[in-house]
Amino acid sequence: MSSHTERTEHMEQSAVTVLGLGPMGRALAGAFLGAGLSITVWNRTPGRDRELVERGAVSAPSAEEAVAASPLTVVCVVNYDASDGFLRRDAVAAALRGRTVVNLTADTPDRARDTAAWARAHGIRYLDGAIMTPTTTIGTPAAVFLHSGPGDLYGEHRAVLETLGGTHTHLGEETGRAAAYDIALLDIFWTAMAGYAHALALARAEGVTARELAPFAQGIGAILPPIFAQTAEEVDDGTFSGEGNPLVSAASSMAHIVAASEAHGIDAGVMRAAEGLARRTIGLGHGEEGFLRIAEVIARR
Ligand SMILES: NC(=O)c1ccc[n+]([C@@H]2O[C@H](COP(=O)([O-])OP(=O)(O)OC[C@H]3O[C@@H](n4cnc5c(N)ncnc54)[C@H](OP(=O)(O)O)[C@@H]3O)[C@@H](O)[C@H]2O)c1
Repeated sequence: MSSHTERTEHMEQSAVTVLGLGPMGRALAGAFLGAGLSITVWNRTPGRDRELVERGAVSAPSAEEAVAASPLTVVCVVNYDASDGFLRRDAVAAALRGRTVVNLTADTPDRARDTAAWARAHGIRYLDGAIMTPTTTIGTPAAVFLHSGPGDLYGEHRAVLETLGGTHTHLGEETGRAAAYDIALLDIFWTAMAGYAHALALARAEGVTARELAPFAQGIGAILPPIFAQTAEEVDDGTFSGEGNPLVSAASSMAHIVAASEAHGIDAGVMRAAEGLARRTIGLGHGEEGFLRIAEVIARR
């Protein structure tokens, strides 16, 4: 038997193929291996699979050979420009025909829908997904995965996907749903991180170190989760109670932060943007309502 035949036969026994071996792709592949699954891996830049191969993964020389090795291919690269770059090559699309792709790459809902339409046109079974937690959580109960696409297809691969640990939520048949949650949740994360970066600069200007601020910063962070839960109903109903903390009061507090920042010569852009939205909402007559009335003003074209 030639070495090629041996390799092909061995590769066809894989349960899962993982395309993309950045930090997250390696974590996913490692979790599959940890769960005792046979895997085949491929990455654009060779060499990133060394540790996985030592643990038993099969390294495929090309994306088309990698996807031919398993009924299920999990993709995790930087964005959909990158995943389209190899998935949509003729040889890869042909090898994927009749097989399933779960794309855990992060991008916009429209890119997810577009890839689902492409997959449908090529006879490829397609699920989209998003990973909401860092690499260190993969394979542990702390991991959070979101999925969207055909429910029966999700049901077929659910057991294998769940070997990645944590919670897996199927959000519905509409392919863009996982990416929609992903961008909304990352919107919270990155705007909060931008606020934290601004707060660190302001605190430093006042002689407060990040270490000194950290325990109190954690306290402020902990206030947010109950607010998300308590306000969800009024946001969906379009009623914004300002009882206890009306928008006029919030805008005044924001103005102090802008003034203190600018007195130190600090770029107050992050807080100015938030204060500007609050002032615009007050100008529209909502000053006695709650802060989240801003969401409706943001949504107006
Ligand atoms: N890291 C996290 O904690 C985390 C958490 C949640 C979600 N995610 C998401 O998971 C995905 C992967 O993240 P990551 O942490 O592994 O790092 P990343 O830097 O976002 O992605 C690195 C991977 O993308 C590949 N890649 C980049 N450009 C490519 C191209 N043009 N063609 C083919 N492959 C290309 C890289 O291949 P090369 O090795 O050849 O460069 C590598 O496999 C991203 O969508 C990210 O948003 C990551």
